[in-house]
Amino acid sequence: MYAKAAQIIKSSKRCVAFTGAGISVESGIPPFRGENGLWNKYDPQTFEIQYFYNNTKRSWEVIREIFYDLFGKVTPNAAHYSLAELEANDMLSSVITQNIDNLHYDAGSKTVHEFHGSLKTLVCLKCKAKYKISEIDLNILPPTCAKCGGILKPDVIFFGEAIPEPAKTNSFNETKKADCFILIGTTGTVAPANTIPSAAKSNGAKIVEINPYVSEYTHSVTDIFLKDKAAFAMEKLMEEIDKL
Ligand code: APR
Repeated sequence: MYAKAAQIIKSSKRCVAFTGAGISVESGIPPFRGENGLWNKYDPQTFEIQYFYNNTKRSWEVIREIFYDLFGKVTPNAAHYSLAELEANDMLSSVITQNIDNLHYDAGSKTVHEFHGSLKTLVCLKCKAKYKISEIDLNILPPTCAKCGGILKPDVIFFGEAIPEPAKTNSFNETKKADCFILIGTTGTVAPANTIPSAAKSNGAKIVEINPYVSEYTHSVTDIFLKDKAAFAMEKLMEEIDKL
């Protein structure tokens, strides 16, 4: 299976990686669903945009606890580095990620479409000014805008918010052109991100999926299912590609 997947990637004209929370699990970031899933511990409503507006301080406390206390302390794992290496060797055109942890950039990937935004920046709800997380003191919640005093929000997509541009357009354009898609660590339960792999499939892309468990994609769009954890699977895939 790994040899076949390596063949597909090596011979593809335009390969794209589509990643979810599972690729960052071995970096120490829990997934949202499944074993040790965040949604088993926290109420996802904290990430509803209406809840954020109505319970800003409470929502920020949970966001800081789940993400920012970890953010900047976790490092990429072999799966992130392997994708960056494939891109450097012209075997990967881009990464479309649902993750907000910045680990693809930290691993050296250059073209990353952050479909759900990134924790790296905060945006003012009032004047839309943007701040780097390094500029903001999260000991005072909710953080406020130095320019207008408005409330700052992580520049990530809350449930009920639209997918950011240009990430959305770039992601769907990439999906149209890809003849190979590597799905890593995603359940495929959240729209509209979960329409991307099926769009790639209907455009004729070959789908290689890496996940230790079956996902919504496995028996619907996946051509080759590598039932392993991301770091191990990507290292093994790189070894097989090097043999070609
Ligand atoms: N390697 C690869 N995959 C793994 C690993 C691992 N070590 N550990 C777990 N997984 C898989 C799980 O089997 C599961 O399929 O990662 C997936 C994690 O699923 P989710 O937590 O649902 O993550 P994701 O699919 O990215 O969620 C999509 O949901 O809550 C929203 O906005 C949030 O971007 C997120 C979206």
